[in-house]
This record gives sequence, C-alpha cells and structure tokens, in this order.
Amino acid sequence: LHTPKAVIVIFGATGDLANRKLYPSLYRLYRNGKLSENFAVIGVARRPLTNEDFRNNIKKSIADFNDEHINPDEFASHFHYNPFDVQDLTHYQKLNAFMDELDEKYDAGGNRLFYLAMAPNFFGTIAANLKSEGVTNNQGWTRLVIEKPFGHNYDTAQQLNDQIRHAFSEDQIYRIDHYLGKEMIQNIEIVRFANALFEPLWNNQYIANIQITSSETLGVEERGSYYDKSGALRDMVQNHILQMVSLLAMEPPAKLTPDDIRYEKIKVLRSLRPISEADVNNYFVRGQYDRGEIDGEPMNAYREGNGVDPESNTETFVAGKFMIDNFRWAGVPFYIRTGKRMAKKATEIVVQFKDLPINLYAGKGDTIDPNLLVIRVQPEDGITLHLNAKKGDYDTTSTPITMHYDKSAVENEYTPEAYETLLNDCLNGDSTNFVHSDEVALSWKYIDIISKAWTDKKAAFPNYTSGSNGPREADKLLENDGFYWWTIQ
Ligand code: BG6
Repeated sequence: LHTPKAVIVIFGATGDLANRKLYPSLYRLYRNGKLSENFAVIGVARRPLTNEDFRNNIKKSIADFNDEHINPDEFASHFHYNPFDVQDLTHYQKLNAFMDELDEKYDAGGNRLFYLAMAPNFFGTIAANLKSEGVTNNQGWTRLVIEKPFGHNYDTAQQLNDQIRHAFSEDQIYRIDHYLGKEMIQNIEIVRFANALFEPLWNNQYIANIQITSSETLGVEERGSYYDKSGALRDMVQNHILQMVSLLAMEPPAKLTPDDIRYEKIKVLRSLRPISEADVNNYFVRGQYDRGEIDGEPMNAYREGNGVDPESNTETFVAGKFMIDNFRWAGVPFYIRTGKRMAKKATEIVVQFKDLPINLYAGKGDTIDPNLLVIRVQPEDGITLHLNAKKGDYDTTSTPITMHYDKSAVENEYTPEAYETLLNDCLNGDSTNFVHSDEVALSWKYIDIISKAWTDKKAAFPNYTSGSNGPREADKLLENDGFYWWTIQ
C-alpha cells in the first residue's frame, strides 16, 4: 500500500491545537497504517525546548491511547524541536538545511508540508520568508495548511490570501474548516447522492425547509480577547455554517473530484439571496448570553468574562435565514442557529419535507407530522428518519415513528477524528474537504453586510439566559414563515 512520505513543519508546535488535535491525529494515522516510518515532524515555536521536552509533550498528548502495538518512544522519535523566530531569516535557512537532513534520514521523498497552527498575524511573514529563503524550493510536493480565521472580513481575507499566494499557489494551500472533516458532514454528500430515496426529493417541490443547529454549552472561557473581536457570526457562520449550507444545497457534481465538488459549492454561495443592510434584521437575529444555569451550575454573563468589554456589543448567538435563489431551492428557507451557553452541545441538520396534500387520518384526531431527515453530526453521529406508521390499536390510525442509524453503535465501525481525516487528505493531496479562496471570498462578502449592520447599531444585550435556546426572536424568525425549530433527541 502506498503511504505518504513527508517532512512536516508545525508552526505553533507548543500550542493548544497542536497538542490537543494534531499530535493525536498523527498518532492515529500512524497506528492505522496511514502513515509509514517515512515521516518526520519539526516542531517550531518561540520558546526554547529540547527535543526531549518536546517528545515528552508528544507522549503526553497521546497518553490516552495506550495501544500496546505501538511504542510511544518510537513514535515520538519522529518529532524534532526547533526554537524559531519567525522574523529571523537565518532561522529559515537553518530550517531548510534541517529539512533536507531529515528528508534523507527518513526517506521522505523531498515532500514538505507546512502547517500554520498559530495566530494568523504572522502568516504573511512566514510565507514570504519561506519563499525568499528557498524553503519552498523542494524536490517533491509542497503544501501549506492554514487554520482559520481567514481574515476578519472580505478585505483582510483578500490581503491574507495575497500574502500567502505570494509563496504558495492555490492548489498547494489547504484551508482547514474542521467541520469538513467531521464524519457526518462528509456523509451529507453520500446520503444525498447515493440514495434513490432522497435525491429526487431534494428540492423545493418536496422540501419545506432545512434547519441547521450548532449549539454549545461552553461560554467563551479563556478566549474572551479573541472572541470579543470576532463573535458568533465570524467564528461559526462565515465558515462552518455556510459550509454546511453549501453541502446541503449543491448540485450533484459531475465527478467526485475536488474541483468538481468545490465548483458546485461555490455556485451555492453565488446563489445566496443578497440582503441589504436595511434587511438584515428580517433575516438574522443576534444574541448575547446573560447569567443563568447549566446542569445546576450558575453561569456568569458574557460581559463578565475575561478579556471581554463590560459593554460588549459582540454576539454569542446568531440565528438566520438563507434563501438560495436558484431553480432547485427557490422558496425554501435554510434556517441556521448557533450559539454559546445554550441548553446542550449538539450539531444537527433537519430536513423537513412538505406536508401531503391531504391528511386521511385527521378525522381520527391524529395529526401527521411531516417527514424529517435528521443528520446528527455530534455528539453522537447518526441519521434519524421520522415517518408515520400505524398505531398499535384496533383502528387504522397514524402515529409518528423513527428509524435510527447510530454510527457508534455499529460494530467495528471506526469514526476518525476530524483532524485525522483532514491531515490524511492533505498528506495524500486531496483538497476536497478544504476551503477554496473563492469560498472564503464569497462567504465574507455575504457576512460583511450583516456585521456592518450590527456594528452600526448596538443591540439590547444581554438577551438570552445561559442554558436556554437563545433569544425569543430566533423562534419568531421561523414562526413568521409558519415553521418552528425541531428540537430533537
Ligand atoms: C471553532 C470555533 O471553529 O469551532 C469555536 O472557533 C467553537 O468557538 C468550535 O467552539 C466548535 O467546534 P466543535 O467541533 O466543537 O463543534
């Protein structure tokens, strides 16, 4: 079997993302035979660590796995630490030489992967220096992985893109949206395009609306100073939520190539009904959490958090309605909501089918619920189909029933972590589940109008209790159209 070979440089090697996600993901790939011995990792960060310290960090981050077939020291021996000043050109020259040395030692095929797992302020500097010092002039393939945020708005996203494009071409750039690595998000495509039952109905003739909820119970915790400048719209809607909308709404691609799929997603973003600043409040609702209680624990208000302005106008909740003005979706609202400090941690997609022309069972006092297809992204991953069937009685009456698929309950079913899947894709040169610069640009253009309207006009915050489902206006958004949020599970 062909496994990828590479020397991987991780900028931000002592950070939270690297320790919590990247090292464990590399370990799982190694354990599952997706990564052979032909790889080395160079951890790059400011603080002075020895190789031994660094390898101890790696071992700590994989300590939970306890796999007796793998010797943690052997795995950790692939990791090398390199204290680094991103402004100092000589450091890039040394890095270049070190990469060559490791390439030879691990027979890594001359391939280089640069992973920027750090705050984006230095992305431009790093890209420019990697190029000017010849670090990207390697023999094999060259790839760059970057983490969000991809800018703060359309203009800054374009600037960031220009800086990075100076050193890397679009097809070398892998922009991470970790939602695209989630198993059930990847399943949207399969459920739609591999089932005769759904695809013929997947349009405005049969679907009444689609609802996406991504709720969290955590507040902003220690990220107040980042979050207060970002807010839920930039933190979740611009990226994860719009990605889900694109996957749900796109046309079947001609082939399953990255280009074909990304092209169809881009078409969705281009078909979003543009809204004007004056219209924003008819389509979007913002919220900010107040004090409250979750699982019996008292919670403080957002404005009381660390690093947060006590009069902050930043939203921690967004609900909204996207209209997609094309043949397939004209008239079908895509409702979305996401927020911190809500009643539970869950991401779910509900596809609500239209009502039948008449209800034959209504005379018997029964209401027929609409059919729902529920894609449960997390915490448990699975699919539930809501149907109607006969009630257990002597009459012919109808009652709602459900059919469940619980992925984790299926024996021997392995569910990879989002980062594990994405790292594997990147190492194998598959950019399907990464974000193209056109997607970044189009989504910011849409989001910028909402943020402008919301910055210009202060909200009456706080407006929802911690542990609730957001402000009342989020319910009204659907009620105005004759719908309501399906709360499931
Ligand atoms: C991140 C956001 O992109 O996604 C966080 O910055 C958020 O604020 C997180 O908590 C949610 O991810 P998940 O995988 O826990 O749903």
